[in-house]
Amino acid sequence: PKITFIDSGGESRTVDAVNGSTVMEAALQNAIPEVEAECGGACSCATCHVYVDEAWFEKTGGPSPMEEDMLDFAFEVRPTSRLSCQIKVSDALDGLVVNTPARQG
Ligand code: FES
Repeated sequence: PKITFIDSGGESRTVDAVNGSTVMEAALQNAIPEVEAECGGACSCATCHVYVDEAWFEKTGGPSPMEEDMLDFAFEVRPTSRLSCQIKVSDALDGLVVNTPARQG
């Protein structure tokens, strides 16, 4: 499935992601800027914060309670904020668009 990352400067990068991996892993594998993922996907750093495109938020769903607690530490949280390590890639998310924040933490 394809995922498009749009950085805070408006630059867009579309990558191929692997089903069953996470949006965060797709970002790291493709050297997407503005995603740091310091904890490696354990939902304990909040530096993989992204804004899910409004049109996709229903499909990705909102954060779990644990993720919501971690999001308290993220920079400029918005209603569509998610931790990208907690979004599983699947065919249902083919075409997903996420925006990355200007900074993490
Ligand atoms: Fe640390 Fe997602 S990589 S919370």
